[in-house]
Amino acid sequence: MKTPYYLYDMGLLGRTLDAIEACTAGTPVRMHYAIKANPQPELLRAISARGFGADCVSGNEIKLAVECGFDPAKIYFAGVGKTDEEICTGIDVGIGCFNIESLEEIDIISGLAAKKGKTVAVALRVNPNIDAHTHEYITTGLKENKFGIDLTLLDEAIAKVRACNNLKLVGLHFHIGSQITVNEPFRILCERINALKAKYALEGIRFECFNVGGGLGVDYEHPDEIPIPDFAGYFDTILSTLNLDEGQEVHCELGRAVVAQCGSLITSVVLVKKGVGKSFVIVDAGMSDLLRPALYGAHHKIENISAAGKPADHLYDVVGPVCESSDVFGKDELLPETHRGDLIALRTAGAYGSAMASRYNMRDLPPALFSE
Ligand code: LLP
Repeated sequence: MKTPYYLYDMGLLGRTLDAIEACTAGTPVRMHYAIKANPQPELLRAISARGFGADCVSGNEIKLAVECGFDPAKIYFAGVGKTDEEICTGIDVGIGCFNIESLEEIDIISGLAAKKGKTVAVALRVNPNIDAHTHEYITTGLKENKFGIDLTLLDEAIAKVRACNNLKLVGLHFHIGSQITVNEPFRILCERINALKAKYALEGIRFECFNVGGGLGVDYEHPDEIPIPDFAGYFDTILSTLNLDEGQEVHCELGRAVVAQCGSLITSVVLVKKGVGKSFVIVDAGMSDLLRPALYGAHHKIENISAAGKPADHLYDVVGPVCESSDVFGKDELLPETHRGDLIALRTAGAYGSAMASRYNMRDLPPALFSE
């Protein structure tokens, strides 16, 4: 098989979905998979088959979600800059909810719904100003970033939606960041939600659902030891902290936690280059295939599959072929002695791997293979 390619372990995806179901069955949690993490149709079909909903951030994601079996009523559409065309796609498909991110967007969606003679369900995305202690590029819940409606503008936003005949306010939406590996920020978020729920209850406003977003992290260094994230701890934190009324739902939009561990990027060693003081393992995958190391300084565990079981006693920099000095997968990696032609796996690459691939340097997009 020509490398590089993404290899997806569908058995592990199934066990991950089982674990989520075990924690959420019979609870008010409704799971919506964040398609942006990985829009592979095979994965989407496996996820939609469990009855999960979809969190979409573009018109194309909405169309793909429908094609891959998601119930339109369980498709939610978020994003700070939805175009008119994308909003119309959402209205025409009959999606379950638009997550509105600004006061300005209320008028735009209301206007387009009115033109079509439709009433659409909306949730307001609130910026809860919580520091999730994650990478600066993927934190979203702090006051100074572009996402969501500032808490000080929420009263005005709620009044505005309620005054629109074509909009039905169903909930509040939050998302505090991604790759969050402790539950404390989620607990703080749920307490903020309780406070908002109580405040608006006094004004006679009752929400059908609270959407806590995504963000549960995975263990990038121990993919074999911890292949499935601690869903029990995450959902317990949410369910034990949130103070829900009878019939009220909590929606979760996990992406990474669902698909990250089931994908690896498989690449071949093009050559091992002796430098001055260190050797470079040059592989045929690059930042165009897996951007996370170059963009966020992220580290994906690197394994020499061809030398499995041999002692990891050689130090290498593992780099790609792309003409950028940031095209590096690992510095000073301890690996078994590595040779031209060896197969290397970059682990935990199922989320934001192929989804963020590009054709930079006119490289081919990596194909996907699936194993049971
Ligand atoms: N909901 C909203 C509103 C989001 O913005 C995101 C991710 C999610 C849900 C899903 O978050 P997750 O459960 O996957 O953490 N490319 C970056 C991650 C960007 C996340 C963007 N938003 C990375 O590779 O780390």
